[in-house]
Amino acid sequence: MFRTRRLRKTENIRRLVRENKLSVDDFIYPLFIEEGTGIETEIPSMPGINRYSLDTISKELDEVVALKIPAVLLFGIPSKKDDEGTETWNDNGIMQQAIRFIKKNYPSLYVITDVCFCEYTSHGHCGVIHDNDVDNDATLVNLAKQTVSHAKAGADMVAPSGMMDGAIAMMRESLDNTGFANLPIMGYSVKYASGFYGPFREAVDSAPSFGDRRTYQMDPSNRDEGLREATFDDEEGADILMVKPALSYLDIIRDLKNNFDRPIACYNVSGEYSMIKAAAEKGWIDGEKVMMESLLSMKRAGADIIITYFAKEAARLLLKS
Ligand code: PBG
Repeated sequence: MFRTRRLRKTENIRRLVRENKLSVDDFIYPLFIEEGTGIETEIPSMPGINRYSLDTISKELDEVVALKIPAVLLFGIPSKKDDEGTETWNDNGIMQQAIRFIKKNYPSLYVITDVCFCEYTSHGHCGVIHDNDVDNDATLVNLAKQTVSHAKAGADMVAPSGMMDGAIAMMRESLDNTGFANLPIMGYSVKYASGFYGPFREAVDSAPSFGDRRTYQMDPSNRDEGLREATFDDEEGADILMVKPALSYLDIIRDLKNNFDRPIACYNVSGEYSMIKAAAEKGWIDGEKVMMESLLSMKRAGADIIITYFAKEAARLLLKS
């Protein structure tokens, strides 16, 4: 009889035949940086995750570096918003200040910026509004300005999350034309219109004031379309392709892994974090175990890189083991 249990008998044989392993090297840790001073506000639906101002964020960055997490993904929360999100390309905006602060004080920490408008627009949409919808091509013009401004401030990588068509090509061209040919782009290539972003929108105050994001983010029903989206980003020159959210979209992660020879990232989003935290707080699940199991599932699905609010907690466990 074929006995699969022979190779499961002890921890050491299980170690030898283990196919996938998580590592601190896999993680990117998102950070919420708010304009102002003395800010350290816990996000109610994301226990353990705070919004920081630049004068309070050092202890968080010290921890990230001590845990050997390679990279952070920055989200800016500006003190003023307007129709177009003009603060996004202000060379002295909160994002640009944050990039300069981190690169000066933590030069080896890899700084990735989220390039979007929804935290900066008064209506909460990811671009310029015309006729009650986001105008794709008008948004691309502003996206180029924002991208170059992040690059000038010293970002190591830029990551557009707005799901505008042609975003990667526009960014690549504007970076190449301004002396940043070596700056990589991580595409939020396959990003779904998901209910799992709820806690994030509360965290950065970016919920749309009318309508929703279904005219630019993908329909959760679609799988083949994900390959098409990723193909566009790949051909336009994205260096890394991302799937978002992660847990409900493991099939998409595997599709990308099988079809593209680029590093594949996934974004383990806010709602996925909150669900585990909430159930663990109630004592309904073992929070640490479920956290590691879900991160591992992303790796097994094919993610080379995992963007996760669990990065510090998981890193602590991995360094212990
Ligand atoms: C902005 C953006 C969102 C997230 C990352 N960038 C929210 C959205 O599209 O509404 C979600 C991150 C998370 O839920 O953790 N475009």
